[in-house]
Amino acid sequence: MADGFPKDMRGADWDEVFARQAKRADLVPEWLDAIALHAGERVLEVGCGPGFVTLMLAERVGPTGLVHAVDPSADALANLARRQAERGFDNICRIVADATTLADDLQADAALATMVLHHVDDPAALLANIAHLLRPGARLLVAEFDPDGPCEFGPPREMRIAAAEVKRWLEAAGFSGVEERRQTAEDYVVIGGVPM
Ligand SMILES: C[S@@+](CC[C@H](N)C(=O)[O-])C[C@H]1O[C@@H](n2cnc3c(N)ncnc32)[C@H](O)[C@@H]1O
Repeated sequence: MADGFPKDMRGADWDEVFARQAKRADLVPEWLDAIALHAGERVLEVGCGPGFVTLMLAERVGPTGLVHAVDPSADALANLARRQAERGFDNICRIVADATTLADDLQADAALATMVLHHVDDPAALLANIAHLLRPGARLLVAEFDPDGPCEFGPPREMRIAAAEVKRWLEAAGFSGVEERRQTAEDYVVIGGVPM
């Protein structure tokens, strides 16, 4: 376990995590544009934590859309519930679950797993399970920290996952058009789609 960046986030201070999420706010609009997320869509957020990104998703899909916010931590989702209520969003459905084994007929239009895989025991299995929660033609975006980045913030190098590995996992899970894009010196995104 790296100091300040435990792989297992149970017992985290979720207000502190929210503050860390807020420091990455600039990355989020590019994530939503990369999967062409629009009003009225159903979007799955895997590993939402206390929900900084979730609230931006809820704003983007609007009152006719829906965000399925999944996290194994009931405390993280309670933190999100409080923020959601403060802002009056009723288009966020919180689901306490491990996304590796979640079985639900969500048929989501799009999904994101951002800064999550380096906390997961079996990232390949998690990505394979996400494929079952999406409709044909749905888009998925994964964002992660680059092991070749400067590591000036974010998790230490030894916790980071190479983009090439994420691409291999997505292709093995059946995603098509899998493509990597650099976002900053520290992080990248990988995008793929569920075949029609
Ligand atoms: C660093 S936070 C990232 C939060 C948010 N996605 C973001 O971009 O800021 C990682 C989150 O992944 C969650 N997580 C860990 N294992 C998970 C799993 N198997 N399924 C779903 N979420 C998981 C943790 O509980 C934590 O809330």
